[in-house]
Amino acid sequence: MNFSTIRRENNKVIILAQTRLPSEEKYLELDDYRDVIEAIKCLDVRGAPAIGIAAAYGMALAVEQTGRTEAEFINEVANCFKDSRPTAVNLFRAVDRMLSRFRQLPNNDEPAVLEALWSEAEAIHEEDRRMCRQIGIHGAELINDGDTILTHCNAGALATGGTGTALGVIYTAVEQGKRVRVYADETRPLLQGARLTVWELMRAGIEVTLICDNTAGMLMKEGGIDHVIVGADRIARNGDFANKIGTYSIAVLAGYHKVPFYVAAPASTFDDQTDSGEQIVIEERSAEEVVEGFGDRTAPAETKVYSPAFDVTPFELVNCFITDKGIKPGGRKD
Ligand code: MRU
Repeated sequence: MNFSTIRRENNKVIILAQTRLPSEEKYLELDDYRDVIEAIKCLDVRGAPAIGIAAAYGMALAVEQTGRTEAEFINEVANCFKDSRPTAVNLFRAVDRMLSRFRQLPNNDEPAVLEALWSEAEAIHEEDRRMCRQIGIHGAELINDGDTILTHCNAGALATGGTGTALGVIYTAVEQGKRVRVYADETRPLLQGARLTVWELMRAGIEVTLICDNTAGMLMKEGGIDHVIVGADRIARNGDFANKIGTYSIAVLAGYHKVPFYVAAPASTFDDQTDSGEQIVIEERSAEEVVEGFGDRTAPAETKVYSPAFDVTPFELVNCFITDKGIKPGGRKD
C-alpha cells in the first residue's frame, strides 16, 4: 500500500485523517492520547481492526506523554478508549490486552512500562497485518478470474493494520492474476464506500464502480454480482455479526438473488463473550451526519433522525466466514 493508515513514529501516533479523504491526504501527528480518542470518535481512524490498533498505540502514548504509570491512571485511560465507540470488539480486545501487559510489569519503572506498551501495540499491529494476509490467501480461493464483487463500507487497508479483510481478499485475488471488478456501495451517511473504498481501490489500480446503496438489489437481479464480501465489527458466538448499517439489507438481497455472501474477519473480531447478535451494542450517531454530513442541509431543520451506525446480520444469511485460520461455514446453505 502506498499510504499508511496508522503508525508509530518518533513516539507519536501518526494517523491518516480519513474524514478528509478523498480531497486531501493529511496525516495527523498525535502526541496527546486524548487526540487519539477524538480521532476514533470522529472517524479519522475507523474500521474495527484499525481502531483497536489506534487504542493500543494511544495507551502507550498516554504514558509517553505524561510519564504516569500508576494503575489508576492506566485504568482511567483504558476506560476512556473503551468509551470511544461501542460496537467493534477489536477495540475492547486491544485495550484489555494492553492492560494485561501493563499488569505484568513493575509499575514504578517508567522506561520499562513505556517500552513494553509500545512493543505490545506494535505486536497487535503486526498480528493484524499477518491476519489480513491470511484472510486474503484463504478468501482468494473463492474468487474466479473475471468475477464481479460487491462490497459495503470500507474493509480495506484503511480499516486495518494490513491490506484489509474484504478488500484483502480482492487484493490477493488480483495479485494471483485474476481479473476482478468491484462495485462499491456508497455507504450512507458517511460515505465510507465512496470516499474510502473507491479511493483505495483506485490507488491499487483495481477496477471499481461506485453505486448508491439502493442500487445493489437491481444489480443482483440483473446478474451483475458474483459475490458479496463485507467486513465485520463483532461476530457473536452464534455467528450473527454486526457491520456497517446497510449490511443486513444487502445480505437479505443476496439471499433472495442467490448471490454468495461472505464475511471476512480476523480472529480479533470473533467475540465468544457475546452469545448472539441481539446482545451487540449498536452505536448511534448524530443527526447532523445524516442531514448535513458534508455541508449543505439535506432535510428541514429539526428533522427527527434515527442513525444506527451498524446493523446485525443473522448467521443464516452468511455463506461463509473468511478468517485468518481458513474458511468457516455460515448458516446459508445454497
Ligand atoms: O463506522 P466505521 O467506518 O468504523 O465502520 C466500519 C465497518 O463497518 C467495517 O466494515 C468493519 O469495521 C470492518 S473493517 C475491516
